[in-house]
Amino acid sequence: MVHTGNRWASLSILGSVLASEVTIQTRQSDDPCAKVVGKKWVDPAVLRACFTSVPVDPDLKENIIDVINKTLLFHTSVNYQISAPEPFTNDVHEDLVKDLARISDQSYDSEFDLHLLCTSHYVIGWILLKLISLQDAVYINFLPIPLVQLTDTYGAQTINIAPEAYKVASAEFADQISVWEAALPDGISLESLDGATVLSINGEDPLAAVDQNAEATGGFEGLGTRQNSFFSSYQQGWTYLMGDFAQQNLPLSDSATLQVQRVNQSLADTITLPYRARIGPNTMIDVTDTDTWRSGLCIAFTDDSVTDNSVDSYPDTPTIRRVTKQFMPRLAGSASSNSPSSKSKRGVNVMHDQALVSNVVFPPSLTPPSQNISGNSAQSEFFMLDDGITGVLALGSFSGEADLQRALLHGLMGLKSKGAKQLIVDLTNNGGGVMCTAAWLHRILAGPKKTTEPQAILDTKLRANPLAQLILKAIIHNNTDPDGQSAYNPIHFTNADNVPFATDFDYMDPAVKEMINEHEDAFSQRLGSECPPINWPAPPPDEALFEGNKVVLVSNGRCASSCALFAVTMAKEEGAKTVVLGGRKSIQQQYCGTVGGESTNGFSFYDEAKAAGLKDHPLNQPILKVQGIVGLTWRLAFGVEDPTQPEEWQDHPADLNMPLTAEIVNNPLAIWNEVVKQMF
Ligand SMILES: *[C@@H]1O[C@H](CO)[C@@H](O)[C@H](O)[C@H]1NC(C)=O
Ligand SMILES: *[C@@H]1O[C@H](CO)[C@@H](O)[C@H](O)[C@H]1NC(C)=O
Ligand SMILES: *[C@@H]1O[C@H](CO)[C@@H](O)[C@H](O)[C@H]1NC(C)=O
Ligand SMILES: *[C@@H]1O[C@H](CO)[C@@H](O)[C@H](O)[C@H]1NC(C)=O
Repeated sequence: MVHTGNRWASLSILGSVLASEVTIQTRQSDDPCAKVVGKKWVDPAVLRACFTSVPVDPDLKENIIDVINKTLLFHTSVNYQISAPEPFTNDVHEDLVKDLARISDQSYDSEFDLHLLCTSHYVIGWILLKLISLQDAVYINFLPIPLVQLTDTYGAQTINIAPEAYKVASAEFADQISVWEAALPDGISLESLDGATVLSINGEDPLAAVDQNAEATGGFEGLGTRQNSFFSSYQQGWTYLMGDFAQQNLPLSDSATLQVQRVNQSLADTITLPYRARIGPNTMIDVTDTDTWRSGLCIAFTDDSVTDNSVDSYPDTPTIRRVTKQFMPRLAGSASSNSPSSKSKRGVNVMHDQALVSNVVFPPSLTPPSQNISGNSAQSEFFMLDDGITGVLALGSFSGEADLQRALLHGLMGLKSKGAKQLIVDLTNNGGGVMCTAAWLHRILAGPKKTTEPQAILDTKLRANPLAQLILKAIIHNNTDPDGQSAYNPIHFTNADNVPFATDFDYMDPAVKEMINEHEDAFSQRLGSECPPINWPAPPPDEALFEGNKVVLVSNGRCASSCALFAVTMAKEEGAKTVVLGGRKSIQQQYCGTVGGESTNGFSFYDEAKAAGLKDHPLNQPILKVQGIVGLTWRLAFGVEDPTQPEEWQDHPADLNMPLTAEIVNNPLAIWNEVVKQMF
């Protein structure tokens, strides 16, 4: 979620619509949803019939738009996104306020047409597809043939069925393989498609399908990154990401027809494979029809005395838990710090775009063999390459605090003790996490110096909208936050010189006024370092563990939020080199995207206003009547090269756009060995 970036990171809503106000007329026997729910695999057309059977409830539509609109006041990037500076001008130009007005005026035949699906990955209209996402799809629509983009020895690029496709599909979808095999022409097995060159997709150049998908995917990320999300990839942990072609969170496609040239075959074949929708990993099975679907999975928040927008009051369903967890660290952090002087703060910066939920198992044959190096954790794994001098840190996420920070320190020291002189950090599909963990990793790698102490990430600013300004004034003048739980409390921040603010200092008065894309905007003064050494889990080393020029950062461009804060500071301040795997040759790849600053759940501002005695202020959002989450960039990070402007829209060109071949694609160990050859 959300986090940031560019294109959309930042804003997502997950949600579902409440049942109570919608009258479902259908009788159980011909209830279109009764044909779907509870079944493990369904035909996407049947699923769509269920989703389109529910008409739009005008009150709910208005409520959702109103909540999003008021939440946008706290999103730092609204006016910047109207037209980003070069090189992102063509990529990022979205006027969210206008979009909401358009969606508000337009009528839609069903919730599906509004793209507002109960507990499915839904979007409001075409444009908000990029803004609004639900991580927990009710059903996920799969094809068994993930695609990759390969480059041959002459530099020619083709799109291919992944060489490991059958291995992945037969392990993950064992109970559907026969359905797909049956759809293939005689003499062509699913396995024989491995590695095949794709000549056309649905009658068009496959690149056209990639570009079409790039229009609607990847939030505000750079074009190259959005193109690449069509293809399969990996994440430390280890998970196989099918890519947008082979995995959809909405039942959009029923089948795909491909012209393929199989390996060692002289003639091309045409195949048509059906998409099959599998029940999501967190979808409850005890749902049987439209009524139970809506009442069971779609929760209404109507009574302010019982429930409000605070995540703590959300009912404890798997869907909600999972969705809100990403935003919990900050809240949990403040809640547990009852001492106002502790200044404990655990900002998170997490990409919350429509990244697909994936629980597809990574093939064991491609998984780098574990080396039992200390420091391995759920998010981090360490390896020594056969050259005896290159260490590797595979880091799937920054979502961890002291334990992960300690693991990172132990792992890097372990690599050094085994003789590592240089380091690869593989950040592929790392969507961020705890900001201070990003700061810690930069600090321990680069040692104590001007760029790491006291600020090892980036300064930020937050949006000084009139309600936010009043919340801060209430904290200061009316003591509405005695326990330091408010995100706005001055005790959490330092000034541009990294000096802590006085507890009664109003850092939004005067607000810093700016003209952005011809819109007046206002921000707080510049906020400095936020990860005080007193919170480190161990003393950081006195010297750099690896000098910047001995570090190579590898990813597929999907390194967002806290990952981007780390990558940007390592590359631009310490001289680390960057590699993006794959990507179209003619497109400059960005080594990270969606930098953001600090992301949060937009609904937390309801609680902020309420605690400050401003619940009924006209700018405060109403209670959201559906289950959902709006992720937004609450603080925006300042740049390294131009410190007066956000880092988000400054260039992050990869030093190497590394071609992928059939031998190394989706094979992390082979990729790292190739990176050593090309980069050290
Ligand atoms: C969104 O809020 C603005 C005021 O901030 C208002 O002018 C506009 O009409 C609202 N849009 C919608 C669709 O409600
Ligand atoms: C294709 O031909 C090459 C060379 O004869 C052979 O090594 C390879 O195994 C063949 N691959 C397949 C999938 O048949
Ligand atoms: C892993 O390393 C630890 C400490 O070096 C050792 O005690 C343990 O036996 C090792 N485990 C394996 C499976 O090699
Ligand atoms: C402080 O509380 C008083 C009494 O409720 C209210 O009138 C005043 O507007 C509040 N001031 C701020 C800055 O919130």
